Amino acid sequence: MTAIDPTGQVADWWATDISNIAPGVIELRGNAIAELLRERGFTEVIWLLTSGGFPTPGQRRLLEAALVASVDHGPQAPSIASARMAATCGVGLNNAIANGVNVLGDVHGGAGQQCVELLNAIVAEGADSEEALRAVTRRVVTQWQQERSRFLPGFGHRFHPVDPRREPILDLLHEARAAGDIAGRHVDAGLAVEAVLNEGRSRPVPINVDGVTAMIYGELGVPPELARGLFVLGRSVGILAHAWEQTQQGGRIKGPVPPSILPTYTGARA
Ligand SMILES: CC(C)(COP(=O)(O)OP(=O)(O)OC[C@H]1O[C@@H](n2cnc3c(N)ncnc32)[C@H](O)[C@@H]1OP(=O)(O)O)[C@@H](O)C(=O)NCCC(=O)NCCS
Repeated sequence: MTAIDPTGQVADWWATDISNIAPGVIELRGNAIAELLRERGFTEVIWLLTSGGFPTPGQRRLLEAALVASVDHGPQAPSIASARMAATCGVGLNNAIANGVNVLGDVHGGAGQQCVELLNAIVAEGADSEEALRAVTRRVVTQWQQERSRFLPGFGHRFHPVDPRREPILDLLHEARAAGDIAGRHVDAGLAVEAVLNEGRSRPVPINVDGVTAMIYGELGVPPELARGLFVLGRSVGILAHAWEQTQQGGRIKGPVPPSILPTYTGARA
């Protein structure tokens, strides 16, 4: 409250629990920036700002793995390709990054949000045996496919028969559970969905990066929408690196394919 804001209404307009900024002061969640700079890493500060506390070493390890897993998938990924195309249009790195981030949605890169929802729905049923978990999972999966989509979020991949991020993340999750860092209920739920989805299938549809990172976010208690935000944060690193590389390589108005290849015209003469 000040003389020009006697009721504090103006100061409260952007009231925040995150940062306290005043002349000569920068505090994040009550921690002086000098302490954070000396003692903490970027992953810990991401957790501090988004969740309000410091992660345990086990939580930090898992969050870091989720961020690293989502960092890049090369120029065949629309988020990377569209950032690289933008970088050849003379718009600057900030626009190129925004372009890449803007295509991260329910189908590309953003399925983790729905996958956390799916796993939360299974975990909420509190199944207390493997058989009960399988039955609950069947019911939740059927309901999801009837009401939302036959494509379960966090499963399948356009060209990886098995997503190379699946095994290493599952290993970390199993280690974290053995160390008592996580309860493991979202891990069990994810593996149960994979088993149910693949019953009777000759070509399996395994968990993808969005699925294994959703297991991490679920175990860490991250809300679904925030899980997508964290994926975007990780992928932004790859988007930036590719936009910067493209900027250095040059190239002007690069389209999605070389100009010698023309899209097939399927229309008739009007
Ligand atoms: C990523 C994705 C678009 C790849 O699809 P695709 O390679 O074109 O797979 P197809 O559409 O050819 O599907 C092949 C088969 O697997 C099934 N399938 C693939 N992904 C599936 C999923 N997530 N849930 C249920 N079934 C799935 C299809 O129904 C199809 O079955 P059919 O042969 O009996 O018809 C698809 O798996 C998907 O939408 N996944 C969910 C969204 C997601 O997690 N996206 C992040 C990807 S990293």
